[in-house]
Amino acid sequence: MAKISASLYTSHVPAIGAAIDLGKTTEPYWQPLFKGYEYSKQWMQDNKPDVILLVYNDHATAFSLEMIPTFAIGCAAEFKPADEGWGPRPVPMVKGHPALASHIAQSVIQQDFDLTIVNKMDVDHGLTVPLSLMCGQPQEWPCLVIPFAVNVVQYPVPSGRRCYNLGRAIRNAIESFDEPLNVHIWGTGGMSHQLQGPRAGLINREFDNAFLDRIIADPQGQADVPHIDYVREAGSEGIELVMWLIARGAMSDNAPNVKHRFYHVPASNTAVGHLILENN
Ligand code: DHB
Ligand code: FE
Repeated sequence: MAKISASLYTSHVPAIGAAIDLGKTTEPYWQPLFKGYEYSKQWMQDNKPDVILLVYNDHATAFSLEMIPTFAIGCAAEFKPADEGWGPRPVPMVKGHPALASHIAQSVIQQDFDLTIVNKMDVDHGLTVPLSLMCGQPQEWPCLVIPFAVNVVQYPVPSGRRCYNLGRAIRNAIESFDEPLNVHIWGTGGMSHQLQGPRAGLINREFDNAFLDRIIADPQGQADVPHIDYVREAGSEGIELVMWLIARGAMSDNAPNVKHRFYHVPASNTAVGHLILENN
């Protein structure tokens, strides 16, 4: 049977991708940020999974106002890095796991969650920046990746409770896949940031750190926080944090082993948060 051994959480700022791609990671602005991921890159090498289920949001790249799936699972064999206006990032093609992705779709839909099945999709910074932060600049990504896209861009967005419960359904799905795969689930996006309007540039360290405490120790309580609280406290794009609850919901009910915790401000307009939790 497949099993989820760990979950990992990280922000996904596009400028972080550009800093990596343009060789700027040791510059004074970026150095403290990348230092916070040194442990993580080593941990990733030491704990390489077979597959990552990578929960992220598409930023009007693969989807637009023409079509807005709340939850979409990538079932294709591969996914190209998207052109977000400056050409595609120079990163490897993402290789999927169609058999596991299809099994998750079957199981999760039968557990009453509506997933959109995606057989062709380019993946934007929401997915590729977390991979770059954790894996550096390899010729090939070190494992297979199933993209799982969540709408947090166009209202209405899913609630934290729904995301957490979806994570539980994903756990059931993965644990009923009949191959001995080691699976990681990643929750990405956040932390506090607002890119638009009079509050552009908003950062809320207190909210972010309370969120990190709670996603570790009280995810059930965090799941009850309404979406409007994220927007009010963490900015319009801070709502990306609800995606972390999907990854957290997929973990076992035992308290997780906190392997790494990191928080840094700023990266572009965003507060960067990062956690690695192992299942006990
Ligand atoms: C920034 C952050 C994001 O999450 C994003 O999707 C785009 C830009 C930023 O901080 O610049
Ligand atoms: Fe984003």
